[in-house]
Amino acid sequence: MYASFEIASSSKPYKVTIENNSFGKLFTSDKKTVILCDDFFSPVLLSKGLPIVAIPASEESKSLESMSGVILEMRKLAMTRNSEVIAVGGGCVQDVATFCCSIYMRGVVWRYMPSTLLGMVDSCIGGKSAINVGQYKNLVGNFYPPQEVIIDPALAGSLAVEQRVAGLCEAAKITFAHGQDAFYQYLALSPRVDMDEGALVRLLELSLRSKKWFIEIDEFDKRERLLLNFGHTFGHAIEGAGRFSIAHGVAVGLGMLAALDFAQYALGITKHAAHVVALQEHISHLLCQVEGLSATANKLNFDELLAHFDSDKKHEAAAYTIISVNSRGELERYQIGKDTNNRRALRRSFESALLRLE
Ligand SMILES: NC(=O)c1ccc[n+]([C@@H]2O[C@H](COP(=O)([O-])OP(=O)(O)OC[C@H]3O[C@@H](n4cnc5c(N)ncnc54)[C@H](O)[C@@H]3O)[C@@H](O)[C@H]2O)c1
Repeated sequence: MYASFEIASSSKPYKVTIENNSFGKLFTSDKKTVILCDDFFSPVLLSKGLPIVAIPASEESKSLESMSGVILEMRKLAMTRNSEVIAVGGGCVQDVATFCCSIYMRGVVWRYMPSTLLGMVDSCIGGKSAINVGQYKNLVGNFYPPQEVIIDPALAGSLAVEQRVAGLCEAAKITFAHGQDAFYQYLALSPRVDMDEGALVRLLELSLRSKKWFIEIDEFDKRERLLLNFGHTFGHAIEGAGRFSIAHGVAVGLGMLAALDFAQYALGITKHAAHVVALQEHISHLLCQVEGLSATANKLNFDELLAHFDSDKKHEAAAYTIISVNSRGELERYQIGKDTNNRRALRRSFESALLRLE
C-alpha cells in the first residue's frame, strides 16, 4: 500500500487507499455485491462472472432520463437495500453511481474505484453527484459519499493522452487553489503524461490531500470549496460548444486560462503574480499535447460559447459569477455585471485562451 487517509464528512468518515494492483483484489464472488462500471471494463469483469451494470462514459449516461435504466438494471440483478455496489470508472460513472446508490431503495452502501486520472486526483472524494437535465449540465445532484475509495494507480496506464492531460489540469487546479506551497510542490513532481508510478502516487496524494482541506472545511460547497470551480464556468461553455468532444478536464484547463485572461481584461489585474504565470505556462504546455485540440478549438463558435457561458447555473440573475485571481495571485469569487464591456471581455478571454494552443 502506498497511502491511506480518512475524509471527514457529516454522514460518516470514509477511507481513501492508494494501492497498486488493488483492482484485482476488489472483486469477490459475494452475492450481495453488484458492480456499476464504465463499459471499458465490461469484458474483463464479465469474464470473471460478476454481476455488472455497464455504463458508457458519456454525458447522455449522466442525463436524468438515463437514471431509471440504471436503477432497473440494479433491480434486475435482485439488489435489495442490504446489497452493496462497487463502482469502477471515471467521473461519468461516479456521478451516475453516487446518484443511483443514494436513491436506490433510499440508499445502498457503495465503494468506488476511480479509473481515470481525473477521478483519482479529484472527483473520487467530496461525495458529489451531478446529473444533466435537458441542455443543462450538472443541474441536479446530491452528496452521498462512498463507504470507501480505493485507488489503483496502475489503471492510469491504459488512459489516452487526452485523459491524462485532463487529470493533470484538475490536479494543477486543486493544488493552485490550495495555495502557492501546494502548487510548487505539484510542479516539483514534474507532472507530465508519462510520469513514473512513484511520482504519480505522490501527485495523487498531494492533490487529494489538497482537496481534502476544501471538502472538510466546506463539505456542502458554500464558501471555500466554491473556489474549486476555478476554470469550470469557462470550461463548461467550451465543453458544451464543442458538443462534449473535448474532455472535461481539458476544457477546465482551457477554462482556467480564459479566467486568468479575464482577470486582466476586466478585473483590473495588470500583471499576474509569478505562480500564476507558472500555472499558465504549465497548463498551456499540457494542452498542446492533446492531439487535434487546436483544430477542434478553432471550430468553436464564440456566440455559442457565450450562450453556454450565460446558462451556467453558478451565475445570478443580474451578475456573472467568476472565479479568478486577485493581484496577489489568490483565487477569489467575483460577481460582475452582465454589461456590454464585460461580455466583450468574456469573448476576448475565450479567444486568447484558445490562441495559446497555437
Ligand atoms: N462528481 C464530481 O465530483 C465530479 C468532479 C469532476 C468531474 N465530474 C464529471 O466527470 C465527468 C468526466 O469524467 P472523467 O474525466 O473522469 O472521464 P469519463 O468518465 O468521461 O471517461 C473518459 C474516457 O476514459 C475511458 N476510461 C475510463 N477509465 C479508463 C481506463 N482505466 N483506461 C482507459 N480508458 C478509460 C472512458 O471509457 C471514457 O472513454 C464529467 O461529466 C464531469 O462533469 C464529476
